[in-house]
Amino acid sequence: MAQGIGFGKTILFGEHFVVYGLPAIVAALGDHTSATIEAGTKGLEFVDNRPETPGYKETKKEEIQRQLNAIVKHFNLDLEKKPLKITLSGNLKCASGIGASAALAASISRALNQELKLNLSDAQINEAAFIAECAGSGSASGIDNTCAVYGGFIIFEKNLEGGKNKVENIRVKKPVEIVLANSGITQETKNVVNDVRELKEKNAGEFKKIFYDYTELCNSAIQALKKEDWKKVGELMNKNHSLLQKISVSCKELDTMQETALKAGALGAKLTGTGRGGLLIALTPGETQEKVAESLERNGFACKKTKIGAETQN
Ligand code: MEV
Repeated sequence: MAQGIGFGKTILFGEHFVVYGLPAIVAALGDHTSATIEAGTKGLEFVDNRPETPGYKETKKEEIQRQLNAIVKHFNLDLEKKPLKITLSGNLKCASGIGASAALAASISRALNQELKLNLSDAQINEAAFIAECAGSGSASGIDNTCAVYGGFIIFEKNLEGGKNKVENIRVKKPVEIVLANSGITQETKNVVNDVRELKEKNAGEFKKIFYDYTELCNSAIQALKKEDWKKVGELMNKNHSLLQKISVSCKELDTMQETALKAGALGAKLTGTGRGGLLIALTPGETQEKVAESLERNGFACKKTKIGAETQN
């Protein structure tokens, strides 16, 4: 029996902008998806025991199937000759925005590497996970699978020419507390990414200005993060949320969650990942974490309290 894991993630800055080659900042979560692979009885048996936000797996059924098909093709699996059973588990609770599909792709790719004794490098595993991500969610930037495979705290920039993406590790001395609050709404990344693309085509001038503002903001965020100036990072997260509202990827639940988190003392809060539902990330150093989570939960939003900047490397 072979096994592999893939980390969940939270994007601190730059979801959607990253698709167009702008820099983004992402942190791996300690939570992961684990894939085990063993001999099956017929074709590909797929058992999905991952914990989920209610309805997640049903909404993502086709996306997951497209990912599995892409993995079978990429690894050249002959399932007639060698039937396989893939079982997914782990403590990463599936939700829009947490990188669950990338964690699936990374964990299965790692497990297949072991099962088929391929001796692939992390870069090759990342390539396989990226192919599965693209099959699942259209034109993925590669940020989610990179984080799922390597872990860590990363500045990511997609190379639009098709060459190597820029991946720089950020080190912080002390991991910082965050709250991830769940709107309970699951979205298909592909649809939201496509909507943004259409909006950009119709409003080229406005998007040019938004992209400029975002790039300035992200560069300041990189400096602030390197100095561990969390107050500044929080302010910039709020500004990033406003830009995400402008490109139509927030929603009333996320805006309410942001307001609630800020009122309870978060230094900053924004949607994270696909948007139009999914998750909110609130920056909550020290004791603020408890207060913010409590307030969000009182308002009906399930929360996860965790830290970013902790070691999550494979
Ligand atoms: C999804 O976690 C992040 C998006 O920017 C899509 C992508 O980068 O592939 C919305």
